[in-house]
Amino acid sequence: MLRRSDVSGLLAVESAPVRAPSDTGRSDPSEDPLISPDEAQGVLKSAGLFASGRTISFINLKGGTGKTTSAVTTATRASEFGFRAVVLDLDAQASATFMLAPHEVDQVKPFIEIWDKPAKISDILIEVSPWLSLLPSSLDNSLLDIHLSKPLSQKTAIKDACSHMHTMGHDLVVIDCPPSLGAGVISAICASDTLVIPTTPDNFSLRGIDLTIEETGAIAETFGLPKPQIKILLTHYDRRIKLSDAVYRHLQDKYPDMLIKQPIRISSAYAQAQEQGKTVFQFAKAKKVQADYHALTTELLRLNRTTSP
Ligand SMILES: Nc1ncnc2c1ncn2[C@@H]1O[C@H](COP(=O)(O)OP(=O)(O)O)[C@@H](O)[C@H]1O
Ligand SMILES: [Mg+2]
Repeated sequence: MLRRSDVSGLLAVESAPVRAPSDTGRSDPSEDPLISPDEAQGVLKSAGLFASGRTISFINLKGGTGKTTSAVTTATRASEFGFRAVVLDLDAQASATFMLAPHEVDQVKPFIEIWDKPAKISDILIEVSPWLSLLPSSLDNSLLDIHLSKPLSQKTAIKDACSHMHTMGHDLVVIDCPPSLGAGVISAICASDTLVIPTTPDNFSLRGIDLTIEETGAIAETFGLPKPQIKILLTHYDRRIKLSDAVYRHLQDKYPDMLIKQPIRISSAYAQAQEQGKTVFQFAKAKKVQADYHALTTELLRLNRTTSP
């Protein structure tokens, strides 16, 4: 749910500190009414802040770093801002599909069924809301790396699918990748203008960052594609734990231009919201979590006048 202040806050000229969305200090919600995706889109368009045709992938070699949570939450928030968003679930574990279409997981047709026929995408897309769709996954997607063994297939499979979705009127594709750098993920990298690497404060996650950055450069060069922009997102951040702060400072020093300034703080709200079949934006008690993902979404979509290039 987006409130008028969540949109008007983006248009302010001076930079404002990150605050909880809708946390205006007013007690009467009628002073800060809800704003529909249609209206929000209108405001962003007239401010020149609305861009279509984007594809953003969430990747990390490690599982459990917040890829799925971040992909689904970002796409959901984007849809509230009036972006027609699609989550492409590439992971055979289908966590994003479980989160967005829990009642349909047993009968979905996954990406692997249409990877070479993008025109068929509309047959398998699931409408989660009028502004958010899901290209679902199932165990069958574990064969994707075998199907995409030829370099040309890797270059075009997901790129063509995303182009097709953009021409269908979807403004934004968000790809939730499996924890690998297999052919499916290479294909996602080829399709993306932005890669987000969600990272937990531990050694394995950190070591994977350099490998992912190097591989991304090599993939772009091999296929003659522009290098996607890389963003590093620290998740499970707990300021009470020294390691969290040490990792944040390490990332800030080593990747000053890539690090997303606002880390995603650790919270039990994710599990609680998930249990209730809600997103954290529908879960009233999740104010700090909402603030973190609001900041991430506005940064990735370049919605904030103060952070826009
Ligand atoms: N910031 C966070 N704080 C606490 N738990 C989180 C956070 N982000 C994600 N989680 C939980 O951690 C688990 C792994 O997250 P997930 O997004 O599925 O990771 P991945 O897709 O990288 O495997 C999930 O149970 C999720 O609810
Ligand atoms: Mg996942």
